[in-house]
Amino acid sequence: MMSDLILDDLTKTFGGIRAVDSVSLTPRPHKINLLMGSNGSGKTTLINCISGFQRTSGGAIMFCREPITNKPPHQIFHKGIIRTFQTPRLFENLSVLENLLVAKSGTCEGFVDALFPKRWNQTEKNIKEKALSILEELGLKELQDNLAYDLSGGQIKLLELGKVLMSDCKLVLLDEPIAGINPVLAHKIFKKITQICNATKTTFLIIEHRLDIALQYANFCMVLDGGKLLASDTPDKILHNKKVIESYLR
Ligand SMILES: Nc1ncnc2c1ncn2[C@@H]1O[C@H](COP(=O)(O)OP(=O)(O)O)[C@@H](O)[C@H]1O
Ligand SMILES: [Mg+2]
Repeated sequence: MMSDLILDDLTKTFGGIRAVDSVSLTPRPHKINLLMGSNGSGKTTLINCISGFQRTSGGAIMFCREPITNKPPHQIFHKGIIRTFQTPRLFENLSVLENLLVAKSGTCEGFVDALFPKRWNQTEKNIKEKALSILEELGLKELQDNLAYDLSGGQIKLLELGKVLMSDCKLVLLDEPIAGINPVLAHKIFKKITQICNATKTTFLIIEHRLDIALQYANFCMVLDGGKLLASDTPDKILHNKKVIESYLR
């Protein structure tokens, strides 16, 4: 199957540091791909380069057969790639519901809609209904009018996932979606991701350290070590890979 994302010899340096060092990889399309590696191995930098938040130093990034290397974040978003941040970036002074509505308006085909107010109203209504049904699914509906500022850590992670769901993107990059989340909620988040992945053929590339949980849901794993790709394989093979055990799982 054609992979939607292809990294070819990707490199990102910071001064003398090779944060990402000649990495070539192709996540499995329409699957849950886990990006593993110890702290400082280059995982976040890799996602920053794919999503356009950092310029690359070398190599190429292809998405759906098109080069997206060093395009600005909004252009990459319009091509169907969304990312979350290790430290969540919500609008703290907006309500839970408003945070989802803002997420959708970012993608809006607004120009035509703005010319035809009636249609615009219908679109607005559909967007709100979609937001409410997502909040319901994530168990946040009761909190729809609360300020995002007042949410707990776990609820913030859920709302971030809600923003991803609003966007209808083809590739979702998640930076530690269950860090600091209790196991029950963490499983709930990964079950939700699995459900979305199966229902919508979205490709997920997920950075996560909580392997006890994440490996239960991953279809494919990639391991970084000092900026280099150490291994990429199915979860069961990764767990028995000598290089991975020595450098990371020890
Ligand atoms: N903005 C930056 N400036 C300088 N060095 C950076 C910057 N971002 C990351 N690094 C360095 O690049 C390496 C990879 O970092 P990072 O991608 O954050 O790793 P990970 O997400 O795997 O923990 C680390 O050595 C880190 O110190
Ligand atoms: Mg990181």
